Amino acid sequence: MPEKIKIAILISGLGSNMEALIKDIKKQDHPGEIAIVISDNTDALGLKRAEKLGVPAISLVQDPTAFGKNSFENQLFELLTSNNIQIVCLAGFMKILSSKFLKKFSGEILNIHPSILPSLKGLNTHRRILEKNLDVHGATVHKVSKDLDGGMILSQTTIAILEKDTPESLSQRLKPKEHQLYVQTLRHFLSGNSNIIQKLDLGH
Ligand code: GRF
Repeated sequence: MPEKIKIAILISGLGSNMEALIKDIKKQDHPGEIAIVISDNTDALGLKRAEKLGVPAISLVQDPTAFGKNSFENQLFELLTSNNIQIVCLAGFMKILSSKFLKKFSGEILNIHPSILPSLKGLNTHRRILEKNLDVHGATVHKVSKDLDGGMILSQTTIAILEKDTPESLSQRLKPKEHQLYVQTLRHFLSGNSNIIQKLDLGH
């Protein structure tokens, strides 16, 4: 059996994508192995969810006055390297990683973003898509690069926007699709497959 690829998941909040990833990674045929969940928010619900799933979960305190070895990114780098992490999955991780950090970390970093990139980079995508009066919304899994939400696109999924939709209803309908997409994309990526996955499903 080839050695499994060590994965870390970074969160800031609920951790529903994290949970979906962990449940899949734990399956025997998965090429990866979940080593750690790291949060930049001590109150993140995802920390409890990770513990329930038996995954070590750590929150890194962000002291804005800390620098050098105590800075958030240095602590994060330490944790990732000491756990031999090769792949980091950002799953609702709200902190932007600096280009210095991205250069220093030799593994791959993936992210899931709730829009059809390159459209709607940044925050509040559910509200912003409704303001545009469009018919379709979606999510993208991409590699993380120094450009915010601008790294190579690995997969996308879509949902139809309904007349009665609100930012909350869009988020609620998109989440299960995000979970499927992230799970499938991670497996795909770890197996060295670079074809873009498109799940263009306009069913309601
Ligand atoms: C998801 O909508 C994801 O696309 C975005 O942040 C949200 C995280 O949700 N990056 P959860 O914590 O996985 O429930």
